[in-house]
Amino acid sequence: MKIVVVGSGGRLGAALLREYRKKYDVAGFNHAQVDLSNLDDVRERLCATNFDLLINAAAFTNVDLCETERDRAFLINAEAPGVLARICREKRAKLIHFSTDYVFDGQKRAPYTEEDEANPISVYGESKLAGEKNVLAAENRYLVIRVSWVFGPDRPSFIDGIIKRAQEDETIDAIADKFSAPTYTLDIAAALPRFFTRAGDYDGIVHFANTGRCSWQEYAQWAWDCCHEVGVPLKAKTVGTLKMKDMANWVARRPVYSVLSAAKYTELTGTPPRTWRDAVADYITRFYSKK
Ligand SMILES: NC(=O)c1ccc[n+]([C@@H]2O[C@H](COP(=O)([O-])OP(=O)(O)OC[C@H]3O[C@@H](n4cnc5c(N)ncnc54)[C@H](OP(=O)(O)O)[C@@H]3O)[C@@H](O)[C@H]2O)c1
Repeated sequence: MKIVVVGSGGRLGAALLREYRKKYDVAGFNHAQVDLSNLDDVRERLCATNFDLLINAAAFTNVDLCETERDRAFLINAEAPGVLARICREKRAKLIHFSTDYVFDGQKRAPYTEEDEANPISVYGESKLAGEKNVLAAENRYLVIRVSWVFGPDRPSFIDGIIKRAQEDETIDAIADKFSAPTYTLDIAAALPRFFTRAGDYDGIVHFANTGRCSWQEYAQWAWDCCHEVGVPLKAKTVGTLKMKDMANWVARRPVYSVLSAAKYTELTGTPPRTWRDAVADYITRFYSKK
């Protein structure tokens, strides 16, 4: 099986490329190699490339910037995935496309299932939802995987920012009234091959996130606890609390609750994702304990 990863320079794409190189015939296109805002370029590069499976991990992920660059957001996050899907259909290749918990409005207080109605409250969420629809309109057997709060070793995210601040500052805090669950890129990489080999059995939208639920403050505090446990020197003694209303610099609205239910994934594969606490502990042991 020949695999192509688009967005291979990003947090998720880089992890997928590295992990799959160990086992598969895989090539990656980073932003400079395939620009999703140039649809002619996308067609030209990908039509000339052979593959059986295309994984799209590229997206315009800056949630605030999407508010002021709506056209660009829709071009990269919505139109381009539709083009990728049509290229895959012509090549009879499979497509796995990534989406987000931000397609939900956050009004629910129980994990969102694939059957829950999406109702985005930001341009980023709207553009990602339109991307899902464009992918599934081309071929309803394609797979859209929604993930949340992605973290991993290939590009710093919230958790790395918190650890850096805890190393530099005596006082740190994080938002305590916004809830979801972190998703570890290496767990996504390990989960995905189940979908390669049983093409057709799994399709449509599937949620994948590490299980459990937390606020950003709980996530940050657990990261602090894990760092403390493995001997990472920290100046801060604990993680204090902030509220969403304190975030004066946010441009986009964000859902206050966007936990994704992994029940469908678990039913399809027979294996639940591990808990977010286990995934974070593993990440810190592996990538911070010797720093
Ligand atoms: N990060 C999260 O917390 C999160 C949460 C939920 C869902 N997701 C979804 O998960 C997927 C992977 O996200 P991630 O965390 O890996 O984000 P990321 O690190 O921002 O990666 C996105 C990649 O897309 C590339 N990209 C941006 N514009 C592009 C364009 N016009 N053409 C080609 N490539 C372009 C970026 O390149 P540059 O860096 O050079 O711009 C980057 O390499 C995305 O579908 C995202 O929507 C992410």
